[in-house]
Amino acid sequence: MRRNLIIKNAFVVTPIGKEAKKGKEMSILKKIENAVIVVKDGTILYCGDAFGAPAVEENDYTVFDAEGRVVLPGFVDSHTHLIFGGYRPDEFEWRLKGDSYMSIMERGGGIQSTVNATKECPEGELTEKAQWFIDRMSEMGVTTVEAKSGYGLDAATEIKMLDVIKALSEKEDQKLRIISTFLGAHAVPKEYKGMTDEYIDLMIREMLPAAKGKATFCDIFTEKNVFEIEESRRFMQAAKDAGFKLKFHADEIVTLGGAELAADLGAVSADHLLHVSDNGIKKMAESGTVATLLPLTAFALREPYAPARKFIDSGCAVALATDLNPGSCFSGSIPLTIALACIYMNMSIEEVITALTLNGAAALDIASETGSIEVGKTADILILEFDNYKMLPYYIGMNCVKTVISNGRIVKE
Ligand code: NIG
Ligand code: FE
Repeated sequence: MRRNLIIKNAFVVTPIGKEAKKGKEMSILKKIENAVIVVKDGTILYCGDAFGAPAVEENDYTVFDAEGRVVLPGFVDSHTHLIFGGYRPDEFEWRLKGDSYMSIMERGGGIQSTVNATKECPEGELTEKAQWFIDRMSEMGVTTVEAKSGYGLDAATEIKMLDVIKALSEKEDQKLRIISTFLGAHAVPKEYKGMTDEYIDLMIREMLPAAKGKATFCDIFTEKNVFEIEESRRFMQAAKDAGFKLKFHADEIVTLGGAELAADLGAVSADHLLHVSDNGIKKMAESGTVATLLPLTAFALREPYAPARKFIDSGCAVALATDLNPGSCFSGSIPLTIALACIYMNMSIEEVITALTLNGAAALDIASETGSIEVGKTADILILEFDNYKMLPYYIGMNCVKTVISNGRIVKE
């Protein structure tokens, strides 16, 4: 498929840079009216006013007239549990009736229930199901997604999940870029109940070496009664020594010190952070660890939202992601993420755009490749239905994305 494009009459709205934007910088967006974007072989060759555009042979290019509509960088969903067997609608109903996420997990449901279903699910079926979700993400403008393992909790099934992610990312005509994360430390499997250290030993001995080369990141559910701080430290230090970049599920249910630990170990991101301490925020600002906030999860669990304003006002880089998974948050809705971040987390729409593009890319350590519309970056570009980017949160929970260009290919016209 041709990856040479010219987009004319674009109202380009984009953060600029190859690194995460922190604090006040998050609200600075470059805006160019009547812009022209030239894409050659999937890479942005030019973005600026019409007068400065390079002369190219238009016959070699697909020409788009954006008719003054807003043109944004593609969205980066930097935290999802995209691969899973089965569904858990009963648990959702129990929670509506007052049951808690952790008590369901402690009774052997929750993550363990998806582990059982994922072990039984053949690779082909897992792949097809994940592709169905990818197609929906792409419709909403996602051009990069992170996908975690973590529903195997044994070497064979964890590797099966990473192989599914690899197969999806290598699929011809795949609609988005996929970054893979090993999450063997998602829960202590039932076979190791009361033997957390032994399970950590197993992960270090067998799973990390097997996951190497198949996953870029290693993640952990650092939580009371799951992996405590010192257990998390031991495992994540081993993952770091083995060459993985680090992510944390931190301070999601209780204040435990996951944010501090993530900062100590130089993690690329710490995610959730609903119950982060002030010291955790301070340490993350110092270490440059991206705070990936997941408002859909707080919404679905009826928990307080993460303190986005405190993070930003303390000079942290904030990213937003969906956390799509079959348990705590069965939604991958980018439009609802945008609305919740603006309405309940008091983020400005400019901050939200940065959080879902450049800072999302930074949370995956690929901000030099994508996350903004600038020369040299991959052409991950969205054209909205509207000529005003402020429509994004205002049209609550609705999809404003008209056209999606991913890696220079038109995947939604
Ligand atoms: O990000 N808290 C840990 N992991 C997921 C939920 C996984 C599940 O419930 O299946 C989360 O919330
Ligand atoms: Fe998660």
